[in-house]
Amino acid sequence: MNDVQTVQPAQSRFGLRRLTPAIGAEAIGVDLAAPLDDALFGEIQRAWHERCGLVFRRQWLDDLQQVAFAERFGELASTLKAYEGGKIHPALMYVTNEKKDGKYVGALPDGEMFFHSDMCYLERPLSAAMLFAIAVPPDGGNTLFASMYAAYDALPPELKHRLEGRLAVNSYEPGYGTSNVQMRIKASSSPTAHSFAHPIVRTHPATGRKALYVNRLMTECIVGMPRAESDALLLWLFDHQEQPQFQYEHRWEVGDLVIWDNRCTLHARRDFPATHLRKLRRVAVKGERPV
Ligand code: OGA
Ligand code: MN
Repeated sequence: MNDVQTVQPAQSRFGLRRLTPAIGAEAIGVDLAAPLDDALFGEIQRAWHERCGLVFRRQWLDDLQQVAFAERFGELASTLKAYEGGKIHPALMYVTNEKKDGKYVGALPDGEMFFHSDMCYLERPLSAAMLFAIAVPPDGGNTLFASMYAAYDALPPELKHRLEGRLAVNSYEPGYGTSNVQMRIKASSSPTAHSFAHPIVRTHPATGRKALYVNRLMTECIVGMPRAESDALLLWLFDHQEQPQFQYEHRWEVGDLVIWDNRCTLHARRDFPATHLRKLRRVAVKGERPV
């Protein structure tokens, strides 16, 4: 499994090492700070589509070099201007617990995060996101990635059938009471709403593969299903999709760059001590409406 040539095409210009059977590969021998020609980028993109997430170790990218690499994947998503990174480039954001004058300078500063897909509460969620490690705690703060192709493939056939054509409401503020569900579904017709109904099973536009597209952090309910039935089915799906055999757990080192396909993976974060600096530089790519 740890063979360098496992998913490497014959004339490849870099090595590829699978990280787990279901998801992830480490690309070896690529310098992302250097300009990438189209052929090399094409190979990176193919490997990324196949493995859903790529890890590049020992990279020394500055802000704009990371932006330039991200741009190869598509139009960048802008971040909030309030964040420090946004002042350098509109697509930059720091995921960090760093503080200046007593205030956090970035996003997602502390603690564990449940599995999720970024911006699944919008009409057009992200297609890709990448994090580059600038400072990491000695322990904790690992990021977990799970293949939703593998999770879908492993569903019992009758459940695949039951989910076909079904939508689920994803929401930015999960945990709202039942009384708000109809309101949310209505609100979700606006592209700027922080709540949106998407197919539970989506088809990836590039690979044509089906992926399970719900998550514990943000999926509220299944449209048109009695609440108790929807709650029970979603809980079953969350437990199913978070099984270890679908995952890769990334232990960060300074200089790591990880890019994930946000359409066919979920990610989560383990807790880490607030006493240590954790600083990751993040750039994300706009996506299409899931179908
Ligand atoms: C993100 C995210 C996880 C982490 O940037 O979208 O979920 O490990 N980050 O910080
Ligand atoms: Mn996230």
